[in-house]
Amino acid sequence: MDLPFTEPFKIKMVENIYKSTKDQRDKWIREASFNLFNLRSEQVFIDLITDSGTGAMSDKQWSAMMLGDESYAGASSYYKLKEAIKEITGFNYFLPTHQGRAAENVLFSAIVKEGDIVPGNSHFDTTKGHIEFRKARAVDCTVGIASDTTAWDPFKGNVDLEKLEDVLKKYPAEKISCILITITNNSAGGQPVSMENLRGARKLADKYGTRLFLDSARFAENAWFIKKREPGYSDKGILEIAGEMFSYSDGMTMSSKKDAIVNMGGFIGFRDEELFHKATTYNIMFEGFITYGGMSGRDMNALAQGLYEGIDLSYLESRIGQVAYLGRKMKEYGIPVLEPFGGHAIFIDAKKFLPEIPKEEFPGQTLAVEIYIEGGVRSVEIGALMADRDPVTRENRYPELEMIRLALPRRVFTNNHMDYVAAVVRNVFERRDNIKKGFRILREAPILRHFTVGLERV
Ligand code: F0G
Repeated sequence: MDLPFTEPFKIKMVENIYKSTKDQRDKWIREASFNLFNLRSEQVFIDLITDSGTGAMSDKQWSAMMLGDESYAGASSYYKLKEAIKEITGFNYFLPTHQGRAAENVLFSAIVKEGDIVPGNSHFDTTKGHIEFRKARAVDCTVGIASDTTAWDPFKGNVDLEKLEDVLKKYPAEKISCILITITNNSAGGQPVSMENLRGARKLADKYGTRLFLDSARFAENAWFIKKREPGYSDKGILEIAGEMFSYSDGMTMSSKKDAIVNMGGFIGFRDEELFHKATTYNIMFEGFITYGGMSGRDMNALAQGLYEGIDLSYLESRIGQVAYLGRKMKEYGIPVLEPFGGHAIFIDAKKFLPEIPKEEFPGQTLAVEIYIEGGVRSVEIGALMADRDPVTRENRYPELEMIRLALPRRVFTNNHMDYVAAVVRNVFERRDNIKKGFRILREAPILRHFTVGLERV
């Protein structure tokens, strides 16, 4: 028989987690104003709120931390990271930042001005936040099929190149800060973007005289999907595929907390020296001197090592394989999950799960709260709460997809944990007809509201 695929690592250190009772969780979530971000981590049994910064570092990463060079300027850790970034992405210039949104802040300070347009596939919420904060606009040109949660398409994260060209035609080039493509497309369900699509976007960038940047938080998972699904790539290595992906762009922002498997860190990669120098001023103002940005030397060392571990094929097989394992279990139980399964998370279609809850009562959040109460599993709403209000009309925005996301930390949970999670969701699914009311907002911030929103039951 074929031998089953297994994790390419064994466990050296464990961290205990504690099960609570339903009554305890019912009380805690009320105290948290029904916002899962307000819970203390001890009140959560299986925490799937994010795959960001929650991964387990390897022994090699931990030992690299001991060798961190904490010099203010010119630290060897900086040069080590620079080499890793150059080898994997091809970019000659980079700026370290403390995380992904800091990279966005620095880059956008250099290229986004009031009234600008930033077209791309579904921009992540902090990305959109940084664009709108500058009174510019993020225009979502994701392919239409992405909003059909069951249609099978190998690259549902793609940009619709026709929509993108319409935007580029409509505005003068100086109003387009850049085209920004997120790989994988987190908000559309961790769906990949094809090489062909990146190539097409590059052509449009050249034709209309604009730049193309990649939001690369999950670039290695994207490369894995290209290897598995795009003709002509099955024999290529992840390093080679990643290199080609980046070759079509002028630069990248990176939240290293995802595919580089560190708990904190980020960077910006640039092809153009002039733009690098322009952004450097903002990096020094917001993050730190250019050879450490927002990171200590030990963090840069762990990141340099993590970048290589994140592109290891057998690691990626087990990582994305675990996500699919959870997805298949849920599907077996009849739970409406987004397909194909994403690279970092399973997304549940909340509108289909709770069809009786009107969109104004936030079905995604309602489902996330029920799953928490049922089994102490923390997920996150990816729907109307996260979408914020329209910056101009201040009306609630109701995105086509109202989902919850169960994101898997890297190298942290076993498939037994996945069985538990699937059983919890199944129990909620079996009592879904008794869930008749959602939530209304008590208080909210003007931007990125889902982090701090306070809710009450309708
Ligand atoms: N871009 C993407 C595609 C992201 O998913 C994130 C973060 C960021 C940028 C910002 O990076 O958190 O390091 O500042 N996503 C996390 C998530 C928070 O849960 O999906 P950051």
